[in-house]
Amino acid sequence: MSEKNGNNGNGRAWVVRKSPIAGRGVFALRDIPKGTRIIEYRGERISPDEGDERYDDDSMEHVHTLLFNVDEETVIDGGVRGNAARFINHSCDPNCQSVVEDGRVFIDALKHIPEGTELTYDYHLVRTGRFRAEWRERYACRCGTRRCRGLLLDSPRPPKRARRAKRVAKRVAKRAARRTTRRAPARASR
Ligand SMILES: C[S@@+](CC[C@H](N)C(=O)[O-])C[C@H]1O[C@@H](n2cnc3c(N)ncnc32)[C@H](O)[C@@H]1O
Ligand SMILES: [Zn+2]
Repeated sequence: MSEKNGNNGNGRAWVVRKSPIAGRGVFALRDIPKGTRIIEYRGERISPDEGDERYDDDSMEHVHTLLFNVDEETVIDGGVRGNAARFINHSCDPNCQSVVEDGRVFIDALKHIPEGTELTYDYHLVRTGRFRAEWRERYACRCGTRRCRGLLLDSPRPPKRARRAKRVAKRVAKRAARRTTRRAPARASR
């Protein structure tokens, strides 16, 4: 698939434009079938420590999450050498999901996506430490879906199935006290 215009041979699949959720977003230019691999989340591959040094959410007026957590050693910084995937907004009831495969991150269609629809996935943002009241505003979610949990951050009480994954994510994020990272819910086997 061409990264510039989302062309996979069947016509342009997506375009970046202004979003009602936040800033710019990515929209389907044609119907996208369930299961389609839409785009890779690209950017500079760095260590979690380097991510900490680059981004300190507490000192930013508005958080702008660009780090994607791949594994214990690697995060992808979509802000450096990133592609259009960095414009895909979060939704608590998304039509896409992130998938980690062989150390790379892809965004796949979770369901049939009609032309014109904004592409979204659940960021599953993780912040360590005790929940702070000011995070309600700082990480307020504006996805507008009926299932909106109100926060870009993962639910404080995730469903049972997600708890084990959350424990793993916590270990990964242990050293990252002030940065937020996305966590991929699905990890494809080789
Ligand atoms: C990687 S950027 C996504 C693209 C962004 N809209 C832009 O124009 O650059 C992630 C940031 O977009 C905003 N964002 C994404 N989804 C959001 C949502 N559901 N509610 C509120 N803000 C959102 C937040 O500021 C978040 O830190
Ligand atoms: Zn939401």
